Amino acid sequence: MKLLITGGLGFIGTNFIRYWITKHPNDQIINLDKITYAANPDNLANLSTNPNYKFIKGDIVDQEVVDDLVSQVDTIVHFAAESHVDRSIDDPLLFVKTNVLGTYSLLKAALKQKTRFHHISTDEVYGTVDPNTNEEFSEITSFNPTSPYAASKASSDLFALSFYKTYGLPLTITNCSNNYGPYQNPEKFIPRLITNILSDKKIPVYGRGENLRDWLFVDDHCSAIETVLLKGKIGETYCIGGLKEATRNIDIVKKVLTIMGRGEEMIEYVADRPAHDNYRVSWKKINQELGWQPKESLESGLTKTIKWYTENQDWWQKSKAEAEQFYQKLNNYQNLK
Ligand code: NAD
Ligand code: DAU
Repeated sequence: MKLLITGGLGFIGTNFIRYWITKHPNDQIINLDKITYAANPDNLANLSTNPNYKFIKGDIVDQEVVDDLVSQVDTIVHFAAESHVDRSIDDPLLFVKTNVLGTYSLLKAALKQKTRFHHISTDEVYGTVDPNTNEEFSEITSFNPTSPYAASKASSDLFALSFYKTYGLPLTITNCSNNYGPYQNPEKFIPRLITNILSDKKIPVYGRGENLRDWLFVDDHCSAIETVLLKGKIGETYCIGGLKEATRNIDIVKKVLTIMGRGEEMIEYVADRPAHDNYRVSWKKINQELGWQPKESLESGLTKTIKWYTENQDWWQKSKAEAEQFYQKLNNYQNLK
């Protein structure tokens, strides 16, 4: 295969390229990434001499760049996005540009040769489950996004589906729950709490820490995408979720504190995120129709992740400083309200 991967210097894109090149070494990969604050060019530096890997710095909104690259491949795996909910509260327009217009340029380019298109999306498009019931999102749940990030992703999903329905673009979509693992920006919950503990800083827990998330180790997301690319049915959406029950944030904090040998005095409850959702995802369809299931347990995935952040402090120091600056600004806004 000749793949165009967008956003391959971000968290999941990096893990996916590493995963794909290991399992399919003869395939060719072009990685298109704008190198926003969320990217780290060092992530794939080890591939710079690999003849089957090419990196292009560019913006998915730029139709000319996108047209040129799409004409060189047979498959697109579209990860590039503004991905952080808290940043979407601060600057929603950027999310419209990248997530909606960027996806549109790629769809438009793909249409010229009916290039196989896999769109990476999120469970956040479905809004929230009621934490007091057993409700879970599935492929037939109505869209009900609550944050600007989720609204922009829902919009991109709908454009993608419309290109399949109206023009016959060979397309699949996956809506995945929360990922964690190596190379995740320390602005996100699990790396933020690990890097705070490593820096001897308190862990900010939004609200009372009772919101539910359905955590999936990033390699399991990569194998799910591989499964859909190789066996998925065109025009279908597949939801992807974690191994067992959704977990309250405070229980993740306690697990990480235990593994890292620290106590609950490290916890600091802070102001809640507006429109703070709860997520629980059913992955029955991808399991029953395509045979995928996650492998990593939460305990083993967290242990691997903590080990990686402990051993790779140089990787996260700069982005952590930027993330904490952003949170400082966000708190200042909240104090003004
Ligand atoms: P990330 O923020 O870590 O990385 C995003 C990457 O996209 C960065 O490398 C960035 O430079 C690049 N990018 C941003 N704007 C761009 C543009 N205009 N042109 C080209 N490149 C651009 O994100 P992530 O966590 O790896 O998420 C990847 C995808 O997976 C996103 O589409 C996200 O919505 C989806 N997703 C993420 C999760 C999760 O838990 N992280 C779960 C489900 C779905
Ligand atoms: O569900 C999939 C989504 O998961 C992806 O689409 C997004 O790209 C990804 O960022 C993630 O969104 P969340 O908003 O769930 O992730 P975040 O890491 O920001 O927060 C996870 C939970 O932890 C959420 O309930 C808010 C809480 N939290 C977060 C931070 C950063 C805290 O309690 N304290 C924090 O400092």
